[in-house]
Amino acid sequence: MCGIVGYVGRRDAAPLIVEGLKKLEYRGYDSFGVATIEKGLAFDKHKGRISENDQSALSLKGKIGIGHTRWATHGVPNDANAHPHFDCTGTIALVHNGIIENYAELKRELNSRGHTFRSETDTEVIVHLIEEEYAKKKDLFLAVQNVVPKLEGSYALLVISNNEERMIVARNASPLVIGIGDGETFAASDMTPILEHTERAMFLEDGDIASISGNEVAIYNHGSRVTRPLELIDWSLEDVKKGGFAHFMLKEIYEQPQAFYNTLRAVNSETFPDFVHNPASVTVVACGSSYHTGLIFKYLLEESCRIPVRLEFASEFKYYPPPVEGLVIGITQSGETADTLIALKQAKSHNCRTLAITNILGSSVSRVADATIFMRAGPEISVAATKSFIAQLAVLMQMVNNISGRKCGDMLIHAHQAIEEILLIDLTNAVSVCTGAKDIFYVGRGPFYPVALEGALKMKEISYIHAEGYAAGELKHGPFALLSPETPVIALCLPGDTYGVMISNIKEMKARGAPVIAIGCDGDSELPDIVDIFIPIPRTSPFVLVLTSLVVLQLLAYYTAVALGRDVDKPRNLAKSVTVE
Ligand code: AGP
Repeated sequence: MCGIVGYVGRRDAAPLIVEGLKKLEYRGYDSFGVATIEKGLAFDKHKGRISENDQSALSLKGKIGIGHTRWATHGVPNDANAHPHFDCTGTIALVHNGIIENYAELKRELNSRGHTFRSETDTEVIVHLIEEEYAKKKDLFLAVQNVVPKLEGSYALLVISNNEERMIVARNASPLVIGIGDGETFAASDMTPILEHTERAMFLEDGDIASISGNEVAIYNHGSRVTRPLELIDWSLEDVKKGGFAHFMLKEIYEQPQAFYNTLRAVNSETFPDFVHNPASVTVVACGSSYHTGLIFKYLLEESCRIPVRLEFASEFKYYPPPVEGLVIGITQSGETADTLIALKQAKSHNCRTLAITNILGSSVSRVADATIFMRAGPEISVAATKSFIAQLAVLMQMVNNISGRKCGDMLIHAHQAIEEILLIDLTNAVSVCTGAKDIFYVGRGPFYPVALEGALKMKEISYIHAEGYAAGELKHGPFALLSPETPVIALCLPGDTYGVMISNIKEMKARGAPVIAIGCDGDSELPDIVDIFIPIPRTSPFVLVLTSLVVLQLLAYYTAVALGRDVDKPRNLAKSVTVE
């Protein structure tokens, strides 16, 4: 799970690659490296972040180059394990995103044939295998073509050699997009490093190998020449810049009204394939925040349409597949989460119809599922999912709306305005309670239970405070033992059937000494008197309250993390898309 960028063209490659890697740091940022073709191969690679240490990479010369920003899987983050990796002759350089599952066996064989390894990575075997094939064929494309059948696992590869004026790229189960400029060509993990230079792009498919020069991209799949459609990507450059905000996360939270509105408008009954119109039952597979949107969907669809929805962690689905049939929906903003891709493939092997919901055009999930719905959140750079979450909900709420015969359509039309109002909410008091806490509980009932789960995930992910989401009625079955004046509880207490029982739950928590921060509706006459901090939000429909209460929790996590001085956009140990199991 790393970011890669390559360039071939008329300009100096290194500055373009360095800038591109900075945009891809959300995919990993524990080390980085760049290699260019000067007279021979020149390179610079280090432990750390390229955004903090780009000077020596920038000084590399040459019009062809490759770069990498890493999220370690095999081997600790250090200079030696940073990409690019090189063959024994020092004439071939390679960067890789993915995992080579059979690397140990390949490494043993290569060692026995006399190769010297300089890193502990799985990646390095690839460049030594290419070295052997290159010695036979004297052609970098043929060498890569002969090596990829030996690799088991996932890869997006960029390869250069100082004997050739081109870059060779290959993909299997890791994203790779080619940007077509004017006399120059880019290759990258996604569009964010390319957008500044061109909006014309081709998404490679599994098994593709391409030879890339400034003016030509020749793509082959299993030996045959193939073409991939040239797409125009309509994301604006501003979308991938911070635009005056302190962090991408805050910018992306503020973009949520637009993301919700755009997605809602783009998705309608015609967008959904036939097999989604009237399902007998639905299974959702997803991870992390996407799992939480699935859980919200379960509550909304079951209540509105009485259609049973089963929710599965994608990571469990593979090893413990339930007896599943009918419609299976995979939710993944990145479209690259390995667990979700595998779960969808498994569902297909059980003859289920599969639908993917993703934010990334050309991502792997669209090649796995029978049909794909693209949300319109625009690029999300911060590791924490915010606007992609809201856009997923726009798709899923439209789906509920569509299946139920448009029972909730009108109220969603104004949802973006309700979200907008929340952005200005004052959370100072709540933030000061959270920053002093070691543990925080989040509770809610019905669709507000997954909102609580998501609020807790956001808090732990970016502030590093231990936070747990619970269905409010569950706290008394054990976690009450942990309540004390040092353990704040954040309660979602919104109008509806469970309002009364939530009030009782809150009183029980207060009786055990826990400070309670409650999110409730404007004009509530009871709640403010029994809690320590009351956060009022506009009184709207239940669907919209799910959205607005969620945004409060995103902001609470954000401001708490900022107050604690955390690295909000790039929290420790995490990456934006998790392409490993
Ligand atoms: C959310 O803030 C997290 N970064 C994470 O839980 C994420 O939602 C999860 O990894 C799933 O990602 P996906 O939607 O791209 O599949």
